[in-house]
Amino acid sequence: MARLRPRHTANEKAGLRHTLSMSGTEQAVSRLEALASPIGRELLARLARLDVTPETELRVGSALRRDYPTELVTAALGQHELRLRAHPKFTRAQQMYFTRVGLEQATAEVIAQHRATRFADAVRVADLCCGIGGDLIALAAGRKVVAVDRDPLHLRMATLNADAYGVGAAVTAVHADVRDVDLSGVDAVFVDPARRAQGHRMRTGDSEPPLSWSTGLVDRVESVGIKAAPGIARDAVPTGWEVEFIADRRDLKEAALWSPALAAGSSRATILPQGHVLLPLPGDEVENRDPGEFLLDPNPAVTRAGLVEDLARSLGAWKIDARIAFLSSDQPLCTPFARTLRVLDSGPWDQKALKPRLRALDIGSVDIRRRGLAGDVEDLHRQLKLRGTRRATLVMTRVDDRPWALICTDPSGN
Ligand SMILES: C[S@@+](CC[C@H](N)C(=O)[O-])C[C@H]1O[C@@H](n2cnc3c(N)ncnc32)[C@H](O)[C@@H]1O
Repeated sequence: MARLRPRHTANEKAGLRHTLSMSGTEQAVSRLEALASPIGRELLARLARLDVTPETELRVGSALRRDYPTELVTAALGQHELRLRAHPKFTRAQQMYFTRVGLEQATAEVIAQHRATRFADAVRVADLCCGIGGDLIALAAGRKVVAVDRDPLHLRMATLNADAYGVGAAVTAVHADVRDVDLSGVDAVFVDPARRAQGHRMRTGDSEPPLSWSTGLVDRVESVGIKAAPGIARDAVPTGWEVEFIADRRDLKEAALWSPALAAGSSRATILPQGHVLLPLPGDEVENRDPGEFLLDPNPAVTRAGLVEDLARSLGAWKIDARIAFLSSDQPLCTPFARTLRVLDSGPWDQKALKPRLRALDIGSVDIRRRGLAGDVEDLHRQLKLRGTRRATLVMTRVDDRPWALICTDPSGN
């Protein structure tokens, strides 16, 4: 009996030989091209309409393999999963292409759009280390952009993603090491260096290219913006540059460094999505006093930007301790730069007295916030055994360097 053998056409054999001779990156780019082809897009669109979960994936995959090549289905399932993950970052995630690392490092749309406004006067910008194009998409809306990356897969994704947002025509993609790029004709540069290598986060302060290389670009182009980690050391910021700390609501997301030509001060705090901006407000030293009727908990972007006193000055609030980032006032101040809490009870820290104090206020559950005072929060929760009906925030902190407790509620009811 003749043995059954799979039959391959000459073309398929040539294709197989070609695939086997390709490097890992070439294979990844070729998979991406397949996903970006009409049949790949059709398959991804079909997946988007299906309910793919870890439980259904096997069944969905087998069904799709009847209509599409196996390799394409495998690649599409992976891409579909990344698109679902990308939703919190991108409104058009469903039409975009990602690698896992590229997505992790990509700037979210709301932040990229905010940052691109600094380049309002630029006509031609270089996006150095463009990755999968998170920043590129925002930069290319309104100006020409030269997008550079040494990873051909990321670079191709960046152009596809720019197309997904309808800005692809403004992008020139350059596959190169950023060190080798000619910047003549470019009037501003944005750099987002890699802070991951071989799947691992680099040490704090390290990046590729290093920060010193990125800040040195100012000798070639005067308008330079650099994305940095929110933990960036203040002494890493060159004199005359601005450091901006960006939060999405109360979530501190990242920092950006701006060369003197784009800077508006030494530091700033930006709160998205509205784009509220706090700049230094020089003035008299802010006084320290015991807490009043309201406690203000500054946004982490304000604290990181070193603008707590500036916020106090702008609001007419005071500090409760020289070293603690809480402010206080007797007015219910409403500001995008801090959460305002109403103080129900305030006094020196006395753990034994805490339980009766909370009970007297009918507090049944507390969110404990600790700043400047050590203590085991879990243990405290266990010891309090609260039975009241109201919720409160218990603040463990220092007032004029004395351990202190404040029992507060959120006047907005949140
Ligand atoms: C943090 S990601 C960029 C993310 C991008 N801004 C976004 O929002 O999608 C860093 C990128 O830098 C690229 N890269 C790192 N060193 C490079 C170099 N010397 N030249 C060119 N690209 C480089 C990496 O390949 C990676 O794609």
